[in-house]
Amino acid sequence: MYLTPEEENTLDGEYGRSLQKAIEILVALGDIYGADRLIPVKSAQIAGVSYKTIGDAGLEWISDLEGEVRIPSVLNPAGMDIARWDEMGIDPFFAKKQQEIIEAYARLGIQTKCTCTPYYLEGFDVRMDDHIAWSESSAVSYANSVIGARTNREGGPSALAAALVGKTANYGYHLDHMREPVIAVEIDCHLEGADYGALGYIAGKDIGSRVAIFHMKDIPSKDEMKSLGAAMAASGAVALYHIEGVTPEAVRNKFTRPEETITVERKQIDDVYEANKEIDSTEIITVGCPHCSPKELQEIAELVDGKKLRKEMWVCTAREVAQRHPDLVRKIEKSGAKIVCDTCMVVSPAANRYSSMTVNSGKALAYVPSMCKVAARYATIADCIKEAGVLDEN
Ligand code: F3S
Repeated sequence: MYLTPEEENTLDGEYGRSLQKAIEILVALGDIYGADRLIPVKSAQIAGVSYKTIGDAGLEWISDLEGEVRIPSVLNPAGMDIARWDEMGIDPFFAKKQQEIIEAYARLGIQTKCTCTPYYLEGFDVRMDDHIAWSESSAVSYANSVIGARTNREGGPSALAAALVGKTANYGYHLDHMREPVIAVEIDCHLEGADYGALGYIAGKDIGSRVAIFHMKDIPSKDEMKSLGAAMAASGAVALYHIEGVTPEAVRNKFTRPEETITVERKQIDDVYEANKEIDSTEIITVGCPHCSPKELQEIAELVDGKKLRKEMWVCTAREVAQRHPDLVRKIEKSGAKIVCDTCMVVSPAANRYSSMTVNSGKALAYVPSMCKVAARYATIADCIKEAGVLDEN
């Protein structure tokens, strides 16, 4: 792999051990995947934040690093709402460790807005063909597919390395030919809302880590594509998909039709809603996986307006999005639902206290049973609110 003289000096340790470690990670990945050089990246999103997932070893690794990131960099969700962790029932020891992790990242100049939807944040506006280094799988899918930007599915350490160096190795989804679809997915029915998360939950299993092109009857909204991509990244490992005539690269490029085609039928989508119906009543309802957009907050606010919910309901979103929409937050919280920031139903240990959960996300449906040991049921947003039950309607 070609390195500039400055990169060679960094690798030789001229700018300190932390930058040396960072460039070593990038060069090692570049060598494994056949990159020709390092390329500049516009921003980084760094996974490996929840104390639940990285533990003391991760905390120690981050704390040992020195220096400052060279590009706008932000964190993935942590294990708790930083401001309201006690209300979530988080144990003080966990909260202290979580805070230490966040402070260690902050010392490197990383913005401690913990979210899987960095594309809603100021300073992280990504455009088509921009090169970035993001880690969270749904954010990667959204950036690659819905925006047409270019990122590999970075691990926490490689995204952090890219943030410190300001570059990444030029391989994988940074290259045109790796972005061509190799499998087509035909949808034989009309879809709306949570149907897209169910579709992703089904299709991701067959697509695996390949690039797919969908042929659909409808034009999904950005939120619907967000749900589709998040679910496929969880049930499979899809980091990039196209929708014919809809997503930016499928509009700009003439892709050759892949030889392999799979078809998804209405019955398969309906089966996702029907699965686990034996859990006749769930203990908690969680929405906002990936974190809610302003439009999704608006929809929830309208659905709960004037109601008092009987069960616990979490609405997960980025703190910055919540702060920009205080009226929506007020309306939602008036119903008894909680706006939960910086974290989510999968990465917070607070979710493990429940035995059953209703979700409107294909990604949460894939992960909640395995990562939280909580039974999960799938529903539309309107049915999630019905499941929350209404005490009063005024
Ligand atoms: Fe985001 Fe957590 Fe879902 S990180 S995509 S809300 S599992």
